[in-house]
Amino acid sequence: MFRELKRMRASREMKVFQDFFPVLVLGLLFTSILILAQDDQSGFISIDCGIVKGSTYIDKVTGISYVSGANFIDSGEPHKIQDADTWDEISTQLTTLTSFPENTRNCYTLKPTQGMGHRYLIRAWFMYGNYNSKDRPPEFDVYLGPDYWNTFKISTINYPGNMEIIYVSSSDYIHVCLVNTGRGTPFISAIEIRLLGNSMYEETTLGSLHLLDRMSCANQSATTIRYNTDKYDRLWYPNYMSDTTCINTPDEIFSDPDFTNVAPSEVMASAITPIYPSHSLELSWYPVNATDSFCMYMYFAEIENLESNQTREFQVYLNGDNLGPITPSYHSTFLLGEIRIDTVTPNYTLRITRTENSTLPPIINALELYTLKQMPQRQTDDRDAAAMWSIKSTYRVTRHWQGDPCAPQEFAWEGVRCSYNDTESPRIIFLNLSASGLNGEINLGLANLTMINTLDLSNNNLTGKVPKFLAALTYLKVLNLKGNHFTGPLPVELLEKSNKGSLSLSYDDGMGAKEKSNKFIVPVIATVVSFFMILTALTAIWIIKNKKSHGKTKAGTELEMRKQQYTYSEVQSITENFKVILGEGGFGTVYHGRIHDTQVAVKILSKLSHQGDKEFQAEAMLLLSIHHKNITSLVGYCNEDDHKGIIYEYMANGNLEMHLFDVSSSVLNWEERLQIGLDAAHGLEYLHHGCKPPIIHRDVKCNNILLTEAFQAKLADFGLSRAFPAEGGTHISTVVAGTPGYLDPELWVVHYLAHSITSSIPFRCDYILSSSSLLKTITKYDNENIHIVKWVNLMLKDGNVKNVVDPRLLGDFNINSAWKAVEVAIACVDHTPRKRPNMIEVVMMLSECLAIERASQETNSKDLNGVISIDLECSDVFYCLDCLQQAFVFSLFGLNESEPKPYITRLRT
Ligand SMILES: *[C@@H]1O[C@H](CO)[C@@H](O)[C@H](O)[C@H]1NC(C)=O
Ligand SMILES: *[C@@H]1O[C@H](CO)[C@@H](O)[C@H](O)[C@H]1NC(C)=O
Ligand SMILES: *[C@@H]1O[C@H](CO)[C@@H](O)[C@H](O)[C@H]1NC(C)=O
Ligand SMILES: *[C@@H]1O[C@H](CO)[C@@H](O)[C@H](O)[C@H]1NC(C)=O
Ligand SMILES: *[C@@H]1O[C@H](CO)[C@@H](O)[C@H](O)[C@H]1NC(C)=O
Repeated sequence: MFRELKRMRASREMKVFQDFFPVLVLGLLFTSILILAQDDQSGFISIDCGIVKGSTYIDKVTGISYVSGANFIDSGEPHKIQDADTWDEISTQLTTLTSFPENTRNCYTLKPTQGMGHRYLIRAWFMYGNYNSKDRPPEFDVYLGPDYWNTFKISTINYPGNMEIIYVSSSDYIHVCLVNTGRGTPFISAIEIRLLGNSMYEETTLGSLHLLDRMSCANQSATTIRYNTDKYDRLWYPNYMSDTTCINTPDEIFSDPDFTNVAPSEVMASAITPIYPSHSLELSWYPVNATDSFCMYMYFAEIENLESNQTREFQVYLNGDNLGPITPSYHSTFLLGEIRIDTVTPNYTLRITRTENSTLPPIINALELYTLKQMPQRQTDDRDAAAMWSIKSTYRVTRHWQGDPCAPQEFAWEGVRCSYNDTESPRIIFLNLSASGLNGEINLGLANLTMINTLDLSNNNLTGKVPKFLAALTYLKVLNLKGNHFTGPLPVELLEKSNKGSLSLSYDDGMGAKEKSNKFIVPVIATVVSFFMILTALTAIWIIKNKKSHGKTKAGTELEMRKQQYTYSEVQSITENFKVILGEGGFGTVYHGRIHDTQVAVKILSKLSHQGDKEFQAEAMLLLSIHHKNITSLVGYCNEDDHKGIIYEYMANGNLEMHLFDVSSSVLNWEERLQIGLDAAHGLEYLHHGCKPPIIHRDVKCNNILLTEAFQAKLADFGLSRAFPAEGGTHISTVVAGTPGYLDPELWVVHYLAHSITSSIPFRCDYILSSSSLLKTITKYDNENIHIVKWVNLMLKDGNVKNVVDPRLLGDFNINSAWKAVEVAIACVDHTPRKRPNMIEVVMMLSECLAIERASQETNSKDLNGVISIDLECSDVFYCLDCLQQAFVFSLFGLNESEPKPYITRLRT
């Protein structure tokens, strides 16, 4: 049975536990006590999962008030067990249940008033009762928040069962989740949460305590003791040890209230003792998992009046370890507890044996046994979670929003994205409530989502004023208010942020403040943007037809304009009505433009561009956050109806590809090439190591490396880049997703990625991904397709690096520098991801190449014939996933990844 009693086996001499415990007979005994006892259920949440929403009742046997489970979940179907009316002795809660044929995971969310940091006993009840006439109980998993708790598995139709755990909640919310594992429809009958005393079960510091058994002799009718004999409503199951008997006293047994785990006097007032006084008490069990640790509590009190010639003394052995001797004190509880058992052994035996001098047999009044369960995952920050629950209930959001908003990651709420961090609770950074039928004013809870960076409220029926607090959300970068019925102008604070470029704000025409900003052009642009500043495609080749005629910006000067939004008519005037085309790309046309005296490039996205809003939004977020001298910067954007455009810094010298492979362009010398390589590496280094979270570019190639007037290189086209989740992230599929053409033809790229990610060197993935452009590059050679990497390898076998260097350099380079560069390139394609250098190392190595080259120019001592042998051991480089950056280092040698190079053949023959 899933309560795991099954796993506890009787020792050979004695039957210790039975497989099932008789929940059915929840003692009549209670009825009498009930009236007298105080009734404090303030620390209780008692839920009957099968009754009509809103209904409540007081259980006749226990006096506990139950409420309907439907108040805590918004899915599920209510059912009755078969022949519910014919059961006499079953608790009311167990006659009904809720089943969950829909959704993989369904969660009850409970919020004890005492909140986080307390110890709670959580118990879930399951009574299948053949409610669906299938004669077959299902099997499914039960989670506590993001953490696995236990598997429900029962073979008998009419046995109710439960699982119970003692758990310190690190959040105000407790989620009990049922997860369908494909073996039947999950269901649940009741959930009970009990606040425990502060000093009880302190071993929860070691883990949560999953109950295996709690046993006493408390009454002879073999019923289970619970509330309100036990004010914490622990269930004390009857003693099942065979060859034992119970001795009792009507007296009260004292328990020191400062003592942990005070057991009720009624429980302590009876004791288990062997029928034959010379025998031992013995209990055995074996662990489900070899590594399980246990926690055991043993309660002792002398309940007999001993004569002067009588003694009771016994030894307690646990797998042979002697924990005694013990002489129980008269009418006073002694707890031998907190015994953590974590020796790994296939079975455990507890043996209680009288000592030589003892005249009386051993006793034990009660015993608890738990397995320690680790529940390490963090739930969403409570303030964020509270805000989300408030939003969910105010707007009656109908999405399947259940359990914790962020954790586990695979069940994060639809439209919600979070940041994850090993040491902090997940935070909500993204919320898309677009077209969710929201009515009324903007919910105040949003003000509590203090880490949010993207908020999409578009296309709802929101009314009232747009509140100022939105402007106080420090990290908010994208806010979409379009398609609602707000009244009044937008708060000035929001508009200011938007004008400064720190917020991409979208709102309907007419909402923009009438007040005109005098600083910039931004008039009443109703539209401006938000999610699409796709940085993507600078792919569009920023070809300058005549670079001299445009080269008016000062070399090296940075654009000083602030990012902002532009209307379409402004874009028209910036580009002088789209006069000069700089290039044509997959996603649109790039025009030359001018803002005041500064040149810019304006890409107008074609209407047919198929980039998803999601990617655009991601790129926008990235762009807004990246500032580096080797990364192109965003100047502004336009999003007016169908007109979507991105304004970039103007790069006078176009892209690197033009300079390396365009026949017409002048030849870059070796030093310039190295400098460009180093610049690009610096940019990548920043993305990998300077950004939080790290960003992988995923598309590093020559035409994404743009050059300023002074030939300073900057990375462009972040269309495929992604912020890399925190280390250990498992979003492999997301990472791989890209333009299919860029994916490695070798399917095991996925394997590789998985490997690099799990081996905590995630940034190396950028090499793999960016190199993918090289991978698919196959060069025609001797009628065979040959990979650049393989070709280079062949050439280097002769030990002469000159073979691989662009002949257009006419040998004008330092041979050591070239060797070093080729080493970098080769290292980057090592087929063991671990062995590939990270970007910091690449930067160092390229710096050395450059230093060597420069030094040699000074001394004018170029060694044109030098042959240095390096041990490449790279014969199967062909099978490596090339790193992108190496792909690109190769191109410094004039090796083009995209077309066969005539000289390759020439050199070979
Ligand atoms: C039993 O009692 C005798 C006499 O009081 C004492 O000498 C002896 O040490 C005791 N044995 C044990 C095991 O305690
Ligand atoms: C987690 O967040 C804390 C505080 O924001 C930060 O100091 C820490 O570096 C983060 N850890 C990781 C692994 O990102
Ligand atoms: C807004 O409300 C109107 C009626 O009040 C309804 O017809 C329309 O569908 C709602 N729009 C949205 C986006 O929920
Ligand atoms: C927002 O946070 C404040 C302060 O912690 C709290 O009082 C308020 O109830 C929260 N509002 C919501 C909707 O979560
Ligand atoms: C929000 O979701 C809508 C509908 O799925 C989508 O069109 C929109 O782009 C999303 N917004 C963001 C910021 O991703």
